[in-house]
Amino acid sequence: MKRIAVLASGNGSNLQALIDNLNVPDSPAEISLVVANIASAHALVRGRKAGIPTFFVPHEGREDRQNYETLLVQLLQEYETDFVCLAGFMRVLTYRFLNAFPYRVLNVHPALLPSFPGTHAPSQALRAGVKLSGCTIHLVDEGVDTGPILAQAAVPVLENDNADTLSARIQTVEHRLYPQAVRLFAEGRLRNKDKLFFLDGWSP
Ligand code: GAR
Repeated sequence: MKRIAVLASGNGSNLQALIDNLNVPDSPAEISLVVANIASAHALVRGRKAGIPTFFVPHEGREDRQNYETLLVQLLQEYETDFVCLAGFMRVLTYRFLNAFPYRVLNVHPALLPSFPGTHAPSQALRAGVKLSGCTIHLVDEGVDTGPILAQAAVPVLENDNADTLSARIQTVEHRLYPQAVRLFAEGRLRNKDKLFFLDGWSP
């Protein structure tokens, strides 16, 4: 049974989808730790409600990124974390954190990467006038949403969409895709060929 730490900064709807899909009998993995860096993050409430050890670890006042990440790594190692899922965690991680979990940090991003990395991806998509957007599950590297892509799903962009309606449509798909990808990852199905990575058994 793999032990997953989820890092979040906000509502935690993806955290909830992971809990609902993974913390069930016969799962290859469980969410065993939740960490949020924002006091008001609803993810903290969701973690506690599910009976999972849940911590608020503020980055404010810890301007030194490396110190902050050292603290996170210590906590995650204390909880014997096998791998990490970012779920709306709005901080870029450096090698200090990533080296502790090589090829073992996943993220969900609300766009079809490599288009529209960074913040406010649905707004970026609307401004660009694309007719398809979606979400991406990828491994995290030191760039902003630049790590190897593992899974993607598309959603239509409709004429009357605003950032909220498009975000909501994308999130519905995230809640299906992220747990699906995380299950495969937990089963040890990560493969790589040259510089590209795949989840064996995943299909759109
Ligand atoms: C999700 O839509 C996720 O894709 C996005 O933040 C939202 C968090 O929602 N992440 C990013 O934009 C990362 N660059 P949630 O807190 O309800 O899961």
